Parts: sequence; structure tokens; C-alpha cells
Amino acid sequence: MTQTVLVTGGAGFIGSHTCVELLLSGYEVVVLDDHSNSSPEALERVAKTAGRPIAAAYSADVRDRRALDTVFAGHRVDAVIHFAAKKAVGESVRIPLAYYDINVGGTTALLAAMHAHGVHRLVFSSSCSIYGDATTVPLTEDSPAAPTNPYATTKWTCERILDDLCRRLPELRVLALRYFNPAGAHPEGLLGEDPRGVPNNVMPFLSQIAVGRRGELRVFGDDYPTPDGTGVRDYIHVADVAEGHRVALDHLDDTPGMSVFNLGTGHGSSVLELVRAFEEVSGRPIPYRIVERRPGDVAELVADPAKVTAAWGWRARHDVAAMCRDAWNFQQLNPRGYGL
Ligand code: NAD
Ligand code: WQD
Repeated sequence: MTQTVLVTGGAGFIGSHTCVELLLSGYEVVVLDDHSNSSPEALERVAKTAGRPIAAAYSADVRDRRALDTVFAGHRVDAVIHFAAKKAVGESVRIPLAYYDINVGGTTALLAAMHAHGVHRLVFSSSCSIYGDATTVPLTEDSPAAPTNPYATTKWTCERILDDLCRRLPELRVLALRYFNPAGAHPEGLLGEDPRGVPNNVMPFLSQIAVGRRGELRVFGDDYPTPDGTGVRDYIHVADVAEGHRVALDHLDDTPGMSVFNLGTGHGSSVLELVRAFEEVSGRPIPYRIVERRPGDVAELVADPAKVTAAWGWRARHDVAAMCRDAWNFQQLNPRGYGL
């Protein structure tokens, strides 16, 4: 029987790509998104890319219990993928309460509504940021959590709440996926990353430089203990992350309670390697200047993806060149993003 998945934050960067993956795999998809960081246009493009529409889209805040009741009353939801959250680390330092309210309060509101409507299967968006200033890489799921900013603390807090709830509600099944650095875009060019204002993250910044919207990249520090001194991250193609969610749905019932998996490639790239890769695929020079370290940044975050590969056979299939190529393709076809 066709399964219905509620995707909160489904119009966002990772959510929209995941909706395409689910539609192509035969799921019915219901989206709830308040569009605080996305355009409703993304959902039109999801339908175009997948060749079929989502079942329903609700423009609502995930903390809005009435809206959640309407969604769960209107659809027989088999599982929920919870992307809706705020994700800017720097902003979370400035307005921590908003982050606790939306990210933690949004998750508990969703859980309460799921419980009331007899929905017990959840895939939760967690983040490599919970590992904080990791001293050993690659990071396994057993590496200690040490969040260093309010955003990361919200993700770790949600994981703790979910773990505790699973111990008390035996019917609950939760998979928390800790993504490393999602990047890239859908290869057909309709969907991609469209941050509002000046991008916080390096990949959309590179795209906007290449297309002429920004002047130069400020490289935050070249004195880290890494091969070229710049920060090393585990960039993972958003299509691989999306596929990881589809595979996760197949494995929600494998084990009772909550399980945690890293979604990364196991391969680290430095900022300067990323600059060179982007120059190569775009054929455009990327001017850059070394500046001070960004407060809160760490030298190196790279996943050990062995657990998820052993459990599900999933592994990331795209490399950094593919991420740059697809991000550049999206940027060229949509020089002003979704036009908001
Ligand atoms: P995004 O901002 O593009 O998507 C989030 C979506 O949620 C947006 O469409 C936004 O409008 C919506 N949203 C935000 N607050 C909401 C609310 N209160 N009610 C309803 N909708 C709301 O971000 P993304 O990169 O797609 O991230 C998705 C999830 O993955 C987030 O939970 C994020 O913390 C997590 N994550 C992202 C990254 C990353 O680097 N992109 C890494 C690790 C984890
Ligand atoms: C990558 C590298 C920077 C911008 C963030 C969140 C994390 C997770 C993924 C949500 C670093 C350098 C960046 C620039 C630069 N998101 N950089 N100049 O900080 O690894 O991770 O996204 O869960 O929680 O913190 O990603 O893309 O900002 O930075 O030199 O203008 O690029 O110093 O080494 P980050 P990023």
C-alpha cells in the first residue's frame, strides 16, 4: 500500500530534494513549511522535477498545534521526516531563545501531535555540529557530543528528548541522521540552495562569486592544523542526503527505539581545495583573501560513515566535483535563486 510521509520543512534545501526522492520512489508526500526560509516556488519545482505533485502543502508553523492536528486528521501519515528548523550558527548565538523555541519547541509540538494521532515513526534532522570541537577525526556516532553554540545545543537537546521518549513510549521508532556539510543541487537545475541575504556557508558563497553576485571569498583562517591550514569539512551531495532519508524510511522498523547515524562521505576537503574545484567546474576565477578565523569554527569535521553503510548498505555516491558542478548549474540557471 502506498505510504504517506509528512515532511516538515519540505520546501527547504534538503527537504525539497528529499521530496523529489520520495515522489520518485512512489511515496505520497505531505509538506508542512512556514516558508520562513524558503519559497513556495520550491514545491512547484519539486513537482516538475519529480514529474508528479505532492499530495498537499500546508503553509504553517510546526509549533502550531491546530495546524498539525489538521494535517494529521487529513492524511493517514505513516512516517514523519522533520527538517523544519532554523540552522544559522551565528544567528543562534545572537538569538538563542528563538532557536530553542523553534528547534526544540517545534520538535516537542510535533511529537505531541504525532502521539495524539497515533503516528510513531520519525526521521529527525540532526547535525555534525553536535560533535563541536572534535579532537579526533573521523567521527563515529560514539564520539562525544560537545555542542559549542545554541544551534548545535538545540539539535543535541532534541536527540536527548527523542532518546528519552523512545525509552518511555515503546511504540516510537526514531532515526536521527547527523548530516555533515550538505552541498550541491539537483542535477536538472530546478532545485538548489537559495539562502536569503549573504550566505553563511561556503558553497553558496562560491556559487555567488562565480556568477558575479559577490566579490571575493574571505577564507576564515589558514593556520589550522590541516594540510593547507584551512578548515576541512566532509561535504556531502544533497542528493545523497535525500537518498539517505528514503533509505532510512525503509529501515525505521529495524530496531526498537532510537538509532543515530552519521550521513557523510568519510572524505574531507579544505576550503582551498573547494575553491580550486569550483574554479575548475565553473571556468571562472574565485578571488579569495585569507582573513581571521571565524569564531566557533573548528579545524576538521569528517564523518566515519561505516555504521550507516553496514546497517543499510547506503553510501554517498557523489564527490566534491559533482557538488560544485551541480551547484554551479543551479546558480547559472537561477542567478537570483527562486527570485524572492
Ligand atoms: P532550510 O532552511 O533550507 O530548510 C528548513 C525549512 O524549514 C525551510 O523551508 C523553512 O522555511 C522551514 N521552517 C523553519 N522554521 C519552521 C517552522 N517553525 N515551521 C515550519 N517550517 C519551518 O535548511 P536545510 O539546509 O534544508 O536544513 C534542513 C534540516 O537539516 C534542518 O533541521 C537543519 O538544522 C538540518 N541540517 C542542515 C545542515 C546544512 O548544512 N544544511 C546540516 C546538518 C543539519
Ligand atoms: C565550511 C568551511 C569555514 C564561509 C555549518 C554549520 C553546521 C552544519 C553545516 C547545520 C569552514 C569556511 C566558510 C566563508 C570560509 N549545518 N568558510 N569562508 O561551519 O562547517 O558548518 O553547516 O547543521 O552546523 O556550522 O560550514 O560552509 O559555513 O564552512 O572560509 O565565507 O568553510 O571556516 O572551514 P560549517 P560552512
